[in-house]
Amino acid sequence: MTSNLPLLGHKRLAKWVDEWAALTEPDSVVICDGSAEEYERLCGELVASGTFVPLSSDRRPNSFWSTSDPADVARVEDRTFVCSQRQIDAGATNNWREPQEMKAVLRDLFSGSMRGRTMYVVPFSMGPLGSPISHIGVQLTDSAYVAASMRIMTRMGSAALEVLGEDGEFVPCVHSVGAPLEPGDVDVAWPCNADNKYIVHFPETREIWSYGSGYGGNALLGKKCFALRIASVMAHDEGWLAEHMLVLKLTSPEGEVRYVTGAFPSACGKTNLAMLIPSLPGWKVETIGDDIAWMKFAPDGSLRAINPEYGFFGVAPGTNSRTNLNAMLTLSGNCIFTNTAMTDDGDVWWEGMTDDPPSHLTDWKRQSWTPGSATPAAHPNARFTAPASQDPAIAPEWQDPEGVPISAILFGGRRSSVVPLVTESFDWEHGVFLGSIMASETTAAAAGAVGQLRHDPFAMLPFCGYNMADYLSHWLSLPDGTGPRQLPRMFYVNWFRKDAAGRFLWPGFGDNSRVLEWVFERCAGRGEAVDSPIGLLPAPSAISIDGLEVDRSDMDTLLGVDVEGWRGDIPSIRGFYEGLGERMPDELWRQLDNLQKRLDDAD
Ligand code: OXD
Ligand code: MN
Repeated sequence: MTSNLPLLGHKRLAKWVDEWAALTEPDSVVICDGSAEEYERLCGELVASGTFVPLSSDRRPNSFWSTSDPADVARVEDRTFVCSQRQIDAGATNNWREPQEMKAVLRDLFSGSMRGRTMYVVPFSMGPLGSPISHIGVQLTDSAYVAASMRIMTRMGSAALEVLGEDGEFVPCVHSVGAPLEPGDVDVAWPCNADNKYIVHFPETREIWSYGSGYGGNALLGKKCFALRIASVMAHDEGWLAEHMLVLKLTSPEGEVRYVTGAFPSACGKTNLAMLIPSLPGWKVETIGDDIAWMKFAPDGSLRAINPEYGFFGVAPGTNSRTNLNAMLTLSGNCIFTNTAMTDDGDVWWEGMTDDPPSHLTDWKRQSWTPGSATPAAHPNARFTAPASQDPAIAPEWQDPEGVPISAILFGGRRSSVVPLVTESFDWEHGVFLGSIMASETTAAAAGAVGQLRHDPFAMLPFCGYNMADYLSHWLSLPDGTGPRQLPRMFYVNWFRKDAAGRFLWPGFGDNSRVLEWVFERCAGRGEAVDSPIGLLPAPSAISIDGLEVDRSDMDTLLGVDVEGWRGDIPSIRGFYEGLGERMPDELWRQLDNLQKRLDDAD
């Protein structure tokens, strides 16, 4: 085995790498320095192995197209485990196994699993290097695709090792595609072990072991595994927040600035909202982050957020210059595309990118494709991996180590009925209640059926690394910290309401700035609201519809209280709460009873 291990001055890290190398038996061990030369070398190797196809340097410079094994296309929630010592601490929403038992199973699988491959040691910082809100991880992986992607998605390489010094704390993340090569074996373009995937978290020891998948959140372990599942546990224990939230900067025509976070389930438009171009004249939205927020209260009481990531791993289908011009501009080069289609002239294409598809494509299964074909050209969960710094709307302070002060938190899902365009919570506890009753129609970001309503509190159902009831208690406890606390206002939004004919009632995208304006005004102590059984609704005319094809009767539906619809939701919320188990906080049961009473009184 060849290795550049002596470069590791951190003894615990060196020992850990040695132990895993001994177990997994790679041909060589390479410590990633994060340099441009190294990235080029990795990409060159990926081209040679057929994993990457270089795109046309005229159309998408320094960019690559890749396609996964068709059995490895999304996060696998049924193969994702939270292995706390006690099952109750993982809670009802996580798959659980006894940690030692799980480790024994995995050790067997990892044994020799990197044979014939290189083990990359990928040190990375989640969050700006050295920020008091950031944390360091080190991922071992036998996938060059993962190592290259980690350079886009995290601050990866020597700089992260420097922050770690000789004795710093890091979250150890181990990843193998589970496809060892014996002498004479010919590799495939997307090695994985489709029938044997394990995405495993050990919350008490803050470890991640991932086996069998090379895709997205299963394999880029800084993202969902570390920045959400493990970090949510750290945040619970240390009094901060690790959330599935975008962070945006909103500037009014008068130049006043507010920062807003938003929790939305996967593939519900977080990236679009974070990069929105307001249709309202004079308003500006800039991006801090599009998927994850880490937040801590500062000594002055403000809740400060950072984006722990360095890139965007966004859903491609549906993205175009009308729905998200800034994303399209972000993708102009230096990107990795996975499971999109490829054009004959070496560019990428996906459903919704242009009104008409090109006359011929290579689809995500690398088959010839022509318009009218029975299957989509791009997989519905096809992704781009793009440097955040390329977003024309990135806020200059997106890497501020102190984070940005949050004034408002949005919650939202895809609900074709019942939930109004926007509702403000009565107070913090009611806001936590609104976050806890979020539900959304499922999308292709996770393996499984699409379009089914599922409860997804704070959009954290697949990402909370501990008991969801304890997580909700953690949110409820935030006002009680020591020192002053400026709590953000909370809003429940729904861009996806449809009429009886299935037509979207709200145009969404840039016009969501009209809702953001109301949120902004509420934060500024202005903005008119009316009381309702479900929360505070914008007063009629408080949301401008000038220039929209939305009429007053649409607005009445969008901002009305569907008493029967809400009453219809209550049994399923009760059932969901019951399912969360005995630790479910009383405050939320009381909130649910109060909602029921207010709805009954509204009759
Ligand atoms: C994501 C997801 O990739 O939520 O961000 O699935
Ligand atoms: Mn996400």
